[in-house]
Amino acid sequence: MPKIKKEKQNKFYVTTPIYYVNDVPHIGHAYTTIAADVLARYFRMMLGGDNVYFLAGTDEHGAKIAQAAEKNKMTPQEFVDQKAAQFQMAWDRLDISNNDFVRTTEKRHEKVVVDFMKQLKSAKTPLGNDCLYESEYEGLYCVACEAFKTETELVNGKCLDHNKECEKVKEKNWFLRLSDYAATLKDLIEKGELNILPEARKNEVLGLIKVGLKDVAISRQNVKWGIQLPFDKEQTAYVWVDALINYISALGGTKGKLYKKFWPADVHLMAKDILKFHAVIWPALLLALGLPLPKLIFAHGFFTIDGQKMSKTIGNVINPDELVTKYGADATRYLLLSQFGFGTDGDFSRERLNNIYNAALANELGNLVSRVVAMNEKYFESKVPEANANGDKYFAFDLKTDWERYDFFMKSLKFDEALGVIWENIRKANMYIDKEKPWELAKSDKHQLADVIYNLLETIRQAAIMLIPFMPQKADNILEVIGFDAEKEKEKKPSDLREWGRLPEGQKTKKAEALFPRLT
Ligand code: MSP
Repeated sequence: MPKIKKEKQNKFYVTTPIYYVNDVPHIGHAYTTIAADVLARYFRMMLGGDNVYFLAGTDEHGAKIAQAAEKNKMTPQEFVDQKAAQFQMAWDRLDISNNDFVRTTEKRHEKVVVDFMKQLKSAKTPLGNDCLYESEYEGLYCVACEAFKTETELVNGKCLDHNKECEKVKEKNWFLRLSDYAATLKDLIEKGELNILPEARKNEVLGLIKVGLKDVAISRQNVKWGIQLPFDKEQTAYVWVDALINYISALGGTKGKLYKKFWPADVHLMAKDILKFHAVIWPALLLALGLPLPKLIFAHGFFTIDGQKMSKTIGNVINPDELVTKYGADATRYLLLSQFGFGTDGDFSRERLNNIYNAALANELGNLVSRVVAMNEKYFESKVPEANANGDKYFAFDLKTDWERYDFFMKSLKFDEALGVIWENIRKANMYIDKEKPWELAKSDKHQLADVIYNLLETIRQAAIMLIPFMPQKADNILEVIGFDAEKEKEKKPSDLREWGRLPEGQKTKKAEALFPRLT
């Protein structure tokens, strides 16, 4: 499977979708955002913090938001201000380290959209036609998707994703001549210049192109809550076009310093529901303006809750706050990313979350740390013992391949498998305790005991470094328990951090508070 980038990487720009603010944040939004955060934190370790940019934000225009505001008896602006704050709060609670949070109602964004539209108006397609033309649209529109629909996309007149009736729309719109981009897009995708992952999603997009790309409206006549077109005061920008431009407006537009450093995006993350907008419409808009295309579009799967689609009607929507309150931010992040492969669909069962918390976090990881520092206190007065020659055979042997596997999985967005590498080592360390029985060695062989405790503490250090992107607070806690200043450690180069034996002899370990208190 191709990884994020083939050539040498010196910067990394990752984005999440900007979520609609008609809804409260739920774990679907949290899932993508946590994944983006894990990537951002991983690349900060690899490339240095200044070379990574992580963007999140909210999508605040369009008919859907205007209707939700009206229902709540608020002006659209009051409504979006309140909702955007809820998303920001949710991400704070999950320890999301986004560099910026863009809102489509901000002036800085609106300015870039207006400029983008102006350029689009005078642009030509690869076939030499005007990119935009005016026409009458008559058809169906799903407000929940904020998308125009054809009869073939509906079942009993309802949109499949939202099970809602579509509106009949008849209005004048500006259209993007998307059909003129089909051949170019196909070529770029096939050559891997526009990378779409997982492979099945790439084939889905190629399939769409093969069937034929229809021109799409890029403006709305009857939607007032939006950005007015600079060349037609009767029309506002279609909410999807407005929204996609956030990836560039947050960088200060195409003249911005951040744009120069970070564009093109290294990965746009999303679920498969909005793949077409990102893999067809967005690249066509960028091509129209002659701008570089994102390097990778990664559309992960959709998950269900206890086997059912997450929906307000069923009443099974989980708010990330609920999980953070119960498990803490880091455990929530772990629970969401460890259950199934990032590209595939999956299911979260509330009961299983509890079991996994207790088994993997409280027992395997939490206990390992508290047992080992307790033994170091008991046998070596909390001072890291001196390891003897050959003392590292048991663990250091596989270390190089472990880091290679970890890097590969991180760069291929196989988060569950990267966590798998960490847990293999945690389990191995627990088995090593059972095999070596330090409590017996304490009576018979102090030399061997020193090796065993050193190996265990060093394995814990290595695991903590691998855990930094996933569980940033707990990784810091673990590093501190084994005597480090976590902030200083994280400033070190990856090659230094990863070398076996970097835990200094004589360093004082501390008493470990329960890292993950058991849930009953
Ligand atoms: N506003 C648009 C995105 C514009 S980006 C230029 C939008 N917003 S949304 O609020 O509907 O968010 C959709 C995204 O939320 C999905 O692509 C995915 O990232 C996340 N998810 C929502 N529910 C989810 C699941 N049940 N499972 C996995 N991801 C989920 O579309």
